[in-house]
Amino acid sequence: MKVLVTGGAGYIGSHTTVALTENGHTPIIVDNLSNSQLSALQGIARITGSEPLFYKGSVGDTDVLSQIFAEHPNIEGVIHFAAFKAVGESIEKPLTYYQNNISNLISLLSLLQTTKVKSFVFSSSATVYGDQAPPLTEKMSRGVPTNPYGNTKLMGEMIIEDVSKQSSCAFSVLRYFNPIGAHASGCIGELPLGPPANLIPYLTQAAATLRPPLTIHGDDYDTPDGTGVRDYIHVCDLADAHIKALEHCTKSAAHYSIFNVGTGRGTSVKEVITGFKEMTGVSVPHTIGPRRSGDVASSWASTDKITSELHWSPQHSLSESLESAWKWQQSLK
Ligand code: NAD
Ligand code: WQD
Repeated sequence: MKVLVTGGAGYIGSHTTVALTENGHTPIIVDNLSNSQLSALQGIARITGSEPLFYKGSVGDTDVLSQIFAEHPNIEGVIHFAAFKAVGESIEKPLTYYQNNISNLISLLSLLQTTKVKSFVFSSSATVYGDQAPPLTEKMSRGVPTNPYGNTKLMGEMIIEDVSKQSSCAFSVLRYFNPIGAHASGCIGELPLGPPANLIPYLTQAAATLRPPLTIHGDDYDTPDGTGVRDYIHVCDLADAHIKALEHCTKSAAHYSIFNVGTGRGTSVKEVITGFKEMTGVSVPHTIGPRRSGDVASSWASTDKITSELHWSPQHSLSESLESAWKWQQSLK
């Protein structure tokens, strides 16, 4: 299947582009490189043997999108990654986030009505659960996100649900938990611009002494060791879930499906630091700081639905995820 991958030069998009190629699909990337670099395409080529077709432009630019569909009228699938994702920045620039993550989503969905696209996969986030007790299941109602970024994911889901009722296209919403790690080749990985806000990229940069010690954001949560608990999912497992979701869209009678993508297991910040030392032999310098505003104590997925309906389960351990993140960090030095 020809698949348009919006944001395909980014972290999850580049790994999914590899997975698409390895599963016999033909990815076509549109990315404005607002948070990625062309080197990702070379990294993909080193793994798959060929660079994916690439269009530089915004997913909200109807001229660019019309050109892509004119040149590839047989595109049947879309995986929509393109969005801004920095929680803190979304609080400072809410309109920038609503413009990119919502206005451009609406523009894309409108344009698709004139195409042959039958399958659409949307990048959502566990943040839509708000502060509910894990394990988080797709049957729970959506919660209240604590920032504009989270709101864009919640609104995106709602917009897609409404559109699905009037569309011949099928939509799968994937709620990612905490994607980490990198391709085992070391050719692609996450490229955070500036100091990372997320745990793993900050941790690997601190371990490489490129940053000051990691601050643990609170050790007084109601969790076994007091630090925040999350469900860390290897980015290659996450990429594979997109292939399953895309294929599900082509087969399922349902026009709107939601799936959690996680491991079903929670790991604390302190356990991550210990696991990293055990796996790599490298200590992570760290201090304890106050809680970070907007953080929940614990979040992990119920994976029952994705296991039973998509026959997907994660193949990588947390240790493998941390090892690959470290390998990637070292390749950046
Ligand atoms: P990323 O920033 O690495 O990738 C996003 C890509 O989209 C980048 O290459 C960027 O240049 C591109 N982009 C942004 N706006 C665009 C536009 N208007 N037109 C074309 N390209 C545009 O982020 P990621 O971690 O790969 O995340 C991908 C998706 O997954 C996003 O929608 C994000 O919100 C969602 N998500 C990410 C996480 C996470 O922790 N990484 C968790 C949950 C959900
Ligand atoms: C994980 C744990 C922190 C950094 C965010 C977004 C979510 C999604 C994924 C994108 C927490 C702790 C972190 C640090 C720390 N984003 N931590 N020191 O907050 O679960 O989710 O990224 O789409 O929407 O909210 O991930 O990696 O930031 O934090 O102690 O320097 O690590 O408090 O317990 P989070 P994270």
